[in-house]
Amino acid sequence: MVLNGIITFSSVFLLLFQGVTSLRDVKLLVEPSTVIKGGTAALICSRDMQGALLYSVKWYRGNHEFFRYTPNEKPDLKVFGLPGIYVDMNRSNGTQVLLRRLELGLSGNFSCEVTADAPYFATQITTKFIDVIALPTLLPVLVTDKDRYQPGEMLRANCTSPPGRPAANLTVFINEEPIRASETSLQPFENGLLTAKVNVEVKVTPELFPGGRLRVACYATVYDVYNQSAKLDFLTPETDPRPERITLGGGTSKCVLNWLLLLFLFFLPMMVMGEDYGLLSGDFLDIPYTYYDEESEENAIISLVGG
Ligand SMILES: *[C@@H]1O[C@H](CO)[C@@H](O)[C@H](O)[C@H]1NC(C)=O
Ligand SMILES: *[C@@H]1O[C@H](CO)[C@@H](O)[C@H](O)[C@H]1NC(C)=O
Ligand SMILES: *[C@@H]1O[C@H](CO)[C@@H](O)[C@H](O)[C@H]1NC(C)=O
Ligand SMILES: *[C@@H]1O[C@H](CO)[C@@H](O)[C@H](O)[C@H]1NC(C)=O
Ligand SMILES: *[C@@H]1O[C@H](CO)[C@@H](O)[C@H](O)[C@H]1NC(C)=O
Repeated sequence: MVLNGIITFSSVFLLLFQGVTSLRDVKLLVEPSTVIKGGTAALICSRDMQGALLYSVKWYRGNHEFFRYTPNEKPDLKVFGLPGIYVDMNRSNGTQVLLRRLELGLSGNFSCEVTADAPYFATQITTKFIDVIALPTLLPVLVTDKDRYQPGEMLRANCTSPPGRPAANLTVFINEEPIRASETSLQPFENGLLTAKVNVEVKVTPELFPGGRLRVACYATVYDVYNQSAKLDFLTPETDPRPERITLGGGTSKCVLNWLLLLFLFFLPMMVMGEDYGLLSGDFLDIPYTYYDEESEENAIISLVGG
């Protein structure tokens, strides 16, 4: 009885003793702190050994160990295959493990466990939730209900951000002024991704055209790792007899395309007849005929007449 008591007492004492003197402050740091799908992340396991020797450092996802450092063994670094975990051995060591090609499904609890060497084998484990996020892969899309606005009219705009997780934050600005959304919505997409959308409505006044231009802009942001925008400019109706919504692409480029089509059709007979075009295969020659549908012809003629 007494002996048992002494043994128990001394083990408790030893546990307390080693806890205080041989190992503390095991921390798991993730770099970068926002982990992006397809990217890399270093899981840095820092600790204060208090002079004790290191026996092992183990990294887990959930309960599954995927990487281990044991300085007294050969090899000292070991990877345990876990689906979706790609360890870059060149940049992993006893302090950090570098993961590549991170997938959304890897989001979860990651742990690092440090064990001190004999005689006590003190162990400390620390866990951190790592969220892998997916940024939108396309730019936000901004649309307005009209191509031109007169003072007194309502301007209605919608801005949509392509799917991501979490959904992007959307803010619509008129000139430099953020506009409160009249409606916001999130729509589920596949794989837990979300599409974000906001609608705004603004009464158009002459003051909204400082310098003759009204700018509608939509910013899509995800934390501090993603910031993309879409912009539309409207000119003051009075100063420009033919105000147009200014966007990329639009009417002019179509017109140019039609001109090119006409030119092409004009030269086509020469290309077909020319003896020197021996390299042109029959397949290639098929293309212009299918491309030359009635609608294009009509458009081409309209632009020829109108432009
Ligand atoms: C690791 O380094 C070796 C030699 O420096 C190199 O051949 C190999 O491609 C590297 N592997 C990775 C995943 O970078
Ligand atoms: C582990 O690797 C990282 C990155 O390659 C490096 O910065 C660090 O100094 C290394 N640490 C040790 C203990 O070798
Ligand atoms: C991560 O750990 C926390 C706290 O231990 C727990 O509440 C949570 O359910 C765990 N999450 C997952 C995905 O296992
Ligand atoms: C904006 O979205 C609403 C539905 O949320 C739709 O009724 C409206 O036509 C859209 N406006 C524009 C300019 O696309
Ligand atoms: C969106 O904005 C809110 C409020 O500023 C912020 O707490 C949240 O983290 C942001 N979300 C994203 C995905 O950026």
